[in-house]
Amino acid sequence: MDLGHIAALLQARPAGHSLPQGLYVEDAVFDFDMAAVFGRSWLFAGFEAEVRKPGDYLALTVGRWPILIVRDRDGELHGFHNSCRHRGSILCAPGSGNAARIVCPYHSWTYALDGRLLAASRMPDDFRKADHGLRPVHVAAVAGALLVCLAETPPDIETMRRTLTPLLAPHDLAHAKLAYRSTLVEQANWKLVMENGRECYHCASGHPELARTFPVGVSASFGDLEESRAFEERMAALGMPMGPEGEDWWQAVRFPLNPGTVAMTTDGGFAVAKLMCAAGGGDTGSLRWALEPNNFCHSTADHSFAFTAMPVSALETHVVSKWLVHEDAVEGVDYDIETLTHLWTQTNLQDKEFAENNQRGVLSPGYRPGPYSTEAESLTLGFVDWYCATAAAYLDGMAA
Ligand code: FES
Ligand SMILES: [Fe+2]
Repeated sequence: MDLGHIAALLQARPAGHSLPQGLYVEDAVFDFDMAAVFGRSWLFAGFEAEVRKPGDYLALTVGRWPILIVRDRDGELHGFHNSCRHRGSILCAPGSGNAARIVCPYHSWTYALDGRLLAASRMPDDFRKADHGLRPVHVAAVAGALLVCLAETPPDIETMRRTLTPLLAPHDLAHAKLAYRSTLVEQANWKLVMENGRECYHCASGHPELARTFPVGVSASFGDLEESRAFEERMAALGMPMGPEGEDWWQAVRFPLNPGTVAMTTDGGFAVAKLMCAAGGGDTGSLRWALEPNNFCHSTADHSFAFTAMPVSALETHVVSKWLVHEDAVEGVDYDIETLTHLWTQTNLQDKEFAENNQRGVLSPGYRPGPYSTEAESLTLGFVDWYCATAAAYLDGMAA
């Protein structure tokens, strides 16, 4: 990897502007992003609710790496590289399931849920099973969200755990269930997908359905709304912390939805009759929480929605969406999938068009980095600045 070339691209970015073309299109930059960003950050992987019972597992591709998250017999969570210690086969196909043991589909090497190799037939007498356990990755559960980190020494997560937990606690995500998940393939660099997801400059015209409930004209802290003060007082009376809280790599804030609406749905009403957070009758706005590099979530009283941009190649990204509802909510009685998912499915399809169109324009020889609106695109600017700082820190570390 030509790190000098990457450093030159980063240095060529004018402050407050979008990135130089190469950072959005080059294969070498994609390789760099995987090493410098996705290989070293805490990454949103899903929800504890997806691995509730002993033997539950979640297999996913993070960046370009197959990962397995497993709950063992004692209830402990484990993260592993989803790669057999025999000859490297994928152990569990992407998705979720439940198994008493992890058995490789190739030659049936068999692992315990804590990663120990239990059985490998026809190996020589001096073969040591103890030397061939699954290789671990760090996994952390924070207020019902699951994060993984592929770095040997992960960045600090305790500040985030301590600060985000009380904000998310009223939604009790650990006792929810996954109602639906979808994957949308986008022909755009992951950073363009995320830049789009971090601003609502385009929302008033681009997302008419979202604009019904989401206050599309507000600033990043949502503090400039007229009704904010009354909302703050109401949340304080309910004992609901609002934030804003965060560090450079995550943010969280509870904000009021548009007057007369209580959930981010097409009609602004609840999509799920059984509420996850019943305080105040569920009229508690949305808790927006977002992790760099690739995730944002909205938790309203009736459901939580999670958006994650999974990079596949320089010009392709998979957007994984998840909808979480109360564990006792019954499909067909308390909710239906179409009502629950329609708004974000529509919004994601609209954003796919924006991101792909943006990517095509960025490929033009006429493209030059342009200035962000500090008022309307502050979170996008924050994302791009974070990316540049993270990339620069990696380059510094490599040079040391
Ligand atoms: S590769 Fe897994 S048992 Fe051979
Ligand atoms: Fe959008």
